[in-house]
Amino acid sequence: MVSEREIDEAVAVLRAGGLVAFPTETVYGLGADASNPEAVRKIFAAKGRPHDHPLIVHIADAVQVANWAREMPGAAHALARKFWPGPLTMILKRAPRVNDLVTGGQDTVALRVPAHRVAQALLRAFGGGVAAPSANRFGRVSATTAEHVRREFGAAVGCVLDGGAADVGIESTIVDLSGARPALLRPGWITARQLEATLGLPLAVPEAQSPRAPGTLAKHYAPQTPLMMMEGDLLIELATSLSRQGRRVAVLARSARQPLIEGLVWVAAPQDAAPYAHDLYANLRRLDTAGCDVILLEDPPQGAEWFAIRDRLNRAAAGAQENLA
Ligand code: TXA
Ligand code: MG
Repeated sequence: MVSEREIDEAVAVLRAGGLVAFPTETVYGLGADASNPEAVRKIFAAKGRPHDHPLIVHIADAVQVANWAREMPGAAHALARKFWPGPLTMILKRAPRVNDLVTGGQDTVALRVPAHRVAQALLRAFGGGVAAPSANRFGRVSATTAEHVRREFGAAVGCVLDGGAADVGIESTIVDLSGARPALLRPGWITARQLEATLGLPLAVPEAQSPRAPGTLAKHYAPQTPLMMMEGDLLIELATSLSRQGRRVAVLARSARQPLIEGLVWVAAPQDAAPYAHDLYANLRRLDTAGCDVILLEDPPQGAEWFAIRDRLNRAAAGAQENLA
């Protein structure tokens, strides 16, 4: 785990305008001092991320919201009380001082108070806000371990705090509270229903999204190997026939039973949504590096707790069909 000395070193790196990768309970973040534009610029360079994709500012507690947002509506207070610290990001109207690089030039800012012990220790010791996207190259699978981060960035990110495997395993739920009605921008482990229960009103479905809203890129969270999602019986059929044609096939199964096919790479994912999400990105990375021509993915169940998982899998699979041809 992470020592006090490592936290102090990471804080020194942040103060000097450098990058620090750190664990949160969702995924690892690639952080920089949110009030230092030169430092924030390094995040975009390291990730290969377009500048119009705004970043989440991570803060130690809800009191610090006032430093970044010019208003905190009642709904935001209610959600903060219920879900912070935790895997929830809120979009609020930005305070004037917030850098355009962080907001992508929008009038809003994304704020999150993470619960992870190491993230909390870092944010408290640093004192300010840490702008951090997920610690992966743009469009790729998020990192849920320090090892993933090191493999993703190598020497480009010198400071990686190792807080073990991220608990939740998929990115935070994002809710927009800057408009007339709260809207869900990105599904996550905290479900729309849970948010609605706390808010006491239904969430708006976001309109045809602005280009900067999250998740508008159909192909995101994607392994390099083409990936297709389908129901279990069909998956076994396809795995069998592709293997016979000499294709190397990798499978992420859940309930399907492994057929006896030579050379088939088979990963059995957990049955329940929480452990499935926890392992998801590590499993996708494992399948992606197995040297296969295609990854076949068994459809996860319907149901609210699978909604965010399905969202990520659909994005990972987008565009894969053409690639297989
Ligand atoms: O769980 C998480 O949210 C992780 C950890 C590290 O906190 N972070 C994360 O960051 O997933 P990132 O950059 O990979 O995804 C954040 C999403 C992006 O799609 C971005 O467009 C959106 O949040 N976003 C940031 N600021 C926004 C804003 N002001 N308005 C709308 N969307 C915003
Ligand atoms: Mg990301």
